[in-house]
Amino acid sequence: MAIINENYLKLKTGYLFPEIGRRVNEFIKNNPDKKVIKMGIGDVTRPLAPSIVKAFHEGVEEMSKIDTFKGYGPEQGYAFLRETIAKNSYRDRGVDISADDIFISDGSKCDTGNIQEIFGNENKIAICDPVYPVYADTTVMAGKTGICNADGYYNGIIYMPCTKENGFIPELPSEVPDLIFLCYPNNPTGTVATKEELKKWVDYALKNKSIILFDAAYEAFIQDEKIPHSIYEIEGAKQVAIEFRSFSKTAGFTGTRCAFVVIPQELSAYDFAGNVHPVKPLWNRRHTTKFNGVSYPVQKAAAAVFSEEGKKEIAETIAYYMGNARIMKSSLASAGYEVFGGENAPYIWIKTMDNLKSWCFFDKLLIDANVVGTPGSGFGSSGEGYFRFSAFADRENVIEAMERIKNLK
Ligand code: MLT
Repeated sequence: MAIINENYLKLKTGYLFPEIGRRVNEFIKNNPDKKVIKMGIGDVTRPLAPSIVKAFHEGVEEMSKIDTFKGYGPEQGYAFLRETIAKNSYRDRGVDISADDIFISDGSKCDTGNIQEIFGNENKIAICDPVYPVYADTTVMAGKTGICNADGYYNGIIYMPCTKENGFIPELPSEVPDLIFLCYPNNPTGTVATKEELKKWVDYALKNKSIILFDAAYEAFIQDEKIPHSIYEIEGAKQVAIEFRSFSKTAGFTGTRCAFVVIPQELSAYDFAGNVHPVKPLWNRRHTTKFNGVSYPVQKAAAAVFSEEGKKEIAETIAYYMGNARIMKSSLASAGYEVFGGENAPYIWIKTMDNLKSWCFFDKLLIDANVVGTPGSGFGSSGEGYFRFSAFADRENVIEAMERIKNLK
């Protein structure tokens, strides 16, 4: 008799974005004449930049010739990409990260879920509330939690509320977690953490022998020079943090797939007897056993993100999305909404109109304005009464959507 992984039965609902997709498709089926504007899932809309496409083509071309064809590559990623990342994303910002500590992958969603595997189920996990749902769902799938209670909280997870009252920055939890998921710039609230804020977390992790799982997928959207792009800009972080980065939003790779994890040599965890073990070899073992690397043309394309031309082109695309965010922020504010985020992140987080529940607001917006966003409660119970808009949209659609929202009764 085949037995399922019963942890899956604990999952409360389907994954958030397919559920939104289902509702939207249903609406479109029943209302084929309506022009629906989608600002729900944070999926990019601008094409890959020319220099990236060129490198991609070159990679494919190399694969077509006997002399340059490549089979399996190094599971951890080609040295040319790892070196380029170490230099451009870290050393050029004054952070000493070795190329050898970088693992290329096909996405941060997979990485933030898969990382759980190298940590025992006895670990207490802390997550923000609201939060990118992957951290919570994969913690449940891994068997690190009990069941979900009526308020939508899983037993065994330490939830750190992020509300208007605390500026969407969590307080240090009184119950000490072993693993702490943090995401800055934040998805879904669009807020950022200062150096002082991150230092507080690094010091807390050092004191408690915890590990911070730091998702920096949106660092490229930071506009304020004082805001750290990496947790490793904080002294001591290499001993207590794993960082996740992605080309998805930075360079339009949501459909191309490329990301990376940084696990510094200095990072350690413990066995039951209290013996110290470096974490990096465990991830290396997992990665080389379960993953055969990202395709060569994609890695070539990713490396082009750091070329002079690539940097320029990407900065233009990011400026375009952040221009959307500015329009959204001011339009929503002038329509009377309380608006957060959107200054150093591509997400705008608002309080719903008349304190409507998030999913009611979703329905109202879809039916009355034919605009799609993401209900805040889909990111956790503290997101109830909030709503998220993604700035990854076409400018024309942004302007039209804002006009429709302004006219909403
Ligand atoms: C989001 O909308 O939160 C993200 O696009 C989802 C993701 O990156 O997987």
